Amino acid sequence: PKKEFIDELLSKMTLEEKLGQLNLPTSDDFTTGTAGSTGTAKKIEQGKVGGLFNIKSVKKIREMQRLAVEKSRLHIPLIFGMDVIHGYETVFPIPLGLSTSWDMPMIEKSARIAAQEATADGICWTFSPMVDISRDPRWGRASEGSGEDPFLGSRIAEAMIKGYQGSDLSANNTMMACVKHFALYGAAEAGRDYNTTDMSLNRMYNEYFPPYKAGADAGAGSFMVSFNDINGIPATGNKWLLTDVLRKQWGFKGFVVTDYTGIPEMIEHGMGDLQTVSALSMNAGVEMDMVGEGFLGTLKKSLDEGKVTQKRIDDAVRLILEAKYNLGLFKDPYLYCDENRAKTEIFTASNRKSAREIAAASMVLLKNDNQLLPLKKSGTIGLIGPLADAMENMNGTWSVAGDITKAVSLRKGLEDAVGKNAKILYAKGSNLDYNETFEANATMFGKTLHRDSRSPEVILKEALDVAKQSDVILAAIGESAELSGESTSRTNIKIPQVQKDLLKALIATGKPVVVVLFTGRPLDLTDEDASAPAILNTWFAGTEAGNAIADVLFGAVNPSGKLTMTFPRSIGQVPIFYSHKNTGRPLANSEGKFEKFRSNYIDERNEPLYAFGYGLSYTKFEYSNLKVSSDKLQQNGSITVTVDLANTGNYDGYEVAQLYTRDLVGSISRPVRELKGFQKVWLKKGEKKTLTFTLTANDLKFYNNDLQFVAEPGDFEVYVGGDSNAKLQTKFELVN
Ligand code: IFM
Repeated sequence: PKKEFIDELLSKMTLEEKLGQLNLPTSDDFTTGTAGSTGTAKKIEQGKVGGLFNIKSVKKIREMQRLAVEKSRLHIPLIFGMDVIHGYETVFPIPLGLSTSWDMPMIEKSARIAAQEATADGICWTFSPMVDISRDPRWGRASEGSGEDPFLGSRIAEAMIKGYQGSDLSANNTMMACVKHFALYGAAEAGRDYNTTDMSLNRMYNEYFPPYKAGADAGAGSFMVSFNDINGIPATGNKWLLTDVLRKQWGFKGFVVTDYTGIPEMIEHGMGDLQTVSALSMNAGVEMDMVGEGFLGTLKKSLDEGKVTQKRIDDAVRLILEAKYNLGLFKDPYLYCDENRAKTEIFTASNRKSAREIAAASMVLLKNDNQLLPLKKSGTIGLIGPLADAMENMNGTWSVAGDITKAVSLRKGLEDAVGKNAKILYAKGSNLDYNETFEANATMFGKTLHRDSRSPEVILKEALDVAKQSDVILAAIGESAELSGESTSRTNIKIPQVQKDLLKALIATGKPVVVVLFTGRPLDLTDEDASAPAILNTWFAGTEAGNAIADVLFGAVNPSGKLTMTFPRSIGQVPIFYSHKNTGRPLANSEGKFEKFRSNYIDERNEPLYAFGYGLSYTKFEYSNLKVSSDKLQQNGSITVTVDLANTGNYDGYEVAQLYTRDLVGSISRPVRELKGFQKVWLKKGEKKTLTFTLTANDLKFYNNDLQFVAEPGDFEVYVGGDSNAKLQTKFELVN
């Protein structure tokens, strides 16, 4: 019936109504608090709108839907989208933080809860997951993705899509996912947002495409194109990308939407006037025009002039109508408009409990000398730093539905955790301090930076007084939430200088100092690593941030997060990632000593400060006895890799065991290591387990220079351990 239903509807539609379905204006909700301008409302009635996005509340959505189904000629319902990228009102850690949990069921659950809440409030389409691989911490949107690795990124894309879409898209508590930003957005030159990408096909297919493909394979209902130019053609008008790769090679069946004004932006890219770029985009394979109104305004002319075909327009409209059909909107346009659900299913105690668990699981313990952590709930704890009492920073970037005033600050979390058992003394210590332009921008979006107008000396003196009275100091420092996310590229990835000065002064007191770090990207922590005895990276952990950080600091939760993006020693190492190529002149020494005429730096080591996969625990894990079931793997067979993992420390805990391979000889040069498997396992103290990984030839496949996906016979090394520097090693041969 779906096909007949849509055929019938299409046959009744005028060209204008068809173009209307391809038009996605933004609502004015987040800027002016109204659902849509009068202009938008009129257009809805005229059938010139296919959907609206970033509009919040059942009441407003119901009203806009009413205009579409009661006032427009064909009564076609609207689709309602939103950036629900790490939770709705219950906010989870920023996606980069979610990824460091390496916990697929948890990540899926976060997406499931996000869908439950968003659909209870009228939303049926989320602009998530963002699966752009990023190896460049200068790029602020690294915070919105899952880091640098295509294998892990693919598993996370699958988990999120499953969480959002469930098994039945027409259920009232599932929403359509949108894989974004296709493609290579995370590889913007120099880490500058929206910048050009230029990349070999074999790098694209092997390193950057896998998570997008995994998203298509997982059945995501939609894709969003990226802003960037790819090898000379902007993604928004790139037929090779959208039609040859996405549709033909990957068999994607959903629809493609632009990112915001991506179509008119092609004028600036130098691709022609609005009519030309709109036709370019339509012919390339874009179905929905977000905000740009290039389709609505120019495709009729292009059709008359033979620059686009009626068939292409009809095909595009069909995909939009199919999505609405799949979401159940033709059966009931108000399926997601249930006031009762909105009252009872959003920001519930149970969702917040899950958020607290997930937030704690995302945290990465980067340093912990002499087991300074976990802390005891006793004595006097000095909580110092501009992020210590900064509830407005906890949700992090792109949490449009979240209410920052409902997030738990670190101060509140600590006070609740210790009760009367310990004393918490607080001082701000310094301002966050960036530059004036940045501060003006941040306030433009309605965020207050809570600037303390007292002199820096007075603020610092107060902090040092607190420090003197404390047994231990928690230095809550790092980036503010506005310092990562869209349009926040940085050339300096250090903690802002005023906060570094504060930390120095705190360490100089001789008191033990724990850095409680807030960040949306890998930072250069070389100085902090050298001077502070303990560093806990908490990212931006969402609604329950303060409680979750307290859980980890006091040991109710043993940290188990592992980095999914390399932390460099300095900005000059960027881009830096573990799965690099060997080069013809690798270093011979492993001590980081400079070697002339070898691939290295005069003034910096090659290795990062903290490697991909790295993260400490309060307990100690030891790996031993790595074995393969056979030293030969047949093309159609499998082998198992086993390793013993023992918890030899004093706490129960999770460990993320990681398996890497190295393909020693290939028809194209192969990375020094590639993640091929991981397991997150719980071990009680003193417990030992044997872990089993299975490898098949399929796991070893890569795209050769003819872009064939092949597993080439030959020798492979296998490494298993707690990070990408895993030392235990064995090998096998792939035979025909
Ligand atoms: O979904 C986002 C995208 O990631 C960046 N530009 C705006 C879109 C819609 O809000």
